[in-house]
Amino acid sequence: MAEKTMRLDRFLTEMTALTRTQAKEAARKGRLTVNGVPVKKADGKIDPAADTIALDGAVIPYQAVEYYMLNKPAGVVSATEDGRYPTVLDLIGEKRRKDLFPVGRLDLDTEGLLLITSDGALAHRLLSPKKHVDKVYYLRYEGRLPEDVCGRFREGMVLEDGTRCLPADFEPGERTETGGEARLTLREGKFHQVKRMMEMIGCPVTYLKRLSMGSLVLDESLRPGEYRPLTEQELEELTRS
Ligand code: URA
Repeated sequence: MAEKTMRLDRFLTEMTALTRTQAKEAARKGRLTVNGVPVKKADGKIDPAADTIALDGAVIPYQAVEYYMLNKPAGVVSATEDGRYPTVLDLIGEKRRKDLFPVGRLDLDTEGLLLITSDGALAHRLLSPKKHVDKVYYLRYEGRLPEDVCGRFREGMVLEDGTRCLPADFEPGERTETGGEARLTLREGKFHQVKRMMEMIGCPVTYLKRLSMGSLVLDESLRPGEYRPLTEQELEELTRS
């Protein structure tokens, strides 16, 4: 039983945007109740799964972990804090809990699927180089594709600094006068990998968007900057893979 309990101030700092000092202050001012009973101190133990905690009368739901799918827009960084640019967590809003983080990174100018969670174990599994989780990107490029483009990606490309990439699937799409569009499936996540691979074939990327990661597919009804919780099914499939 004992391991199921936690301090009230820790519950508040994890489930809300309150700091520990603010939690203490809220209790002192009589703003907090546990099972309807006002508490004056925030250092007591509660059972988050069984007790009902409310702040100013509003119940704070307990979730051990949270999962959101974000359609990352260009111009925000995939980090928890940044001195220059807004972060993907700023998009989740002021009331977010503080243990959320993005799973992996997309470049500042890359759009598309980003999983935001507080589940470190799942993030570790999805990012592990040994797991080879598929990541599908849509891209637009400039220039003309070489004849053997699919083969060059399939056999494992060597980047400009000698780094060898795992085999990847390149599917050319529509062509324009100056370039075209394509889908690229990678099974790893090296720094600027899509852009560097496309540079190697002489076709620099002009637009990049991640469409999926493992079983998780970007919900196209989310506009850039919008997010939603994962559905039960998405979560089940993701944790099973
Ligand atoms: N590859 C890149 O070059 N950039 C990204 O943001 C993701 C993959």
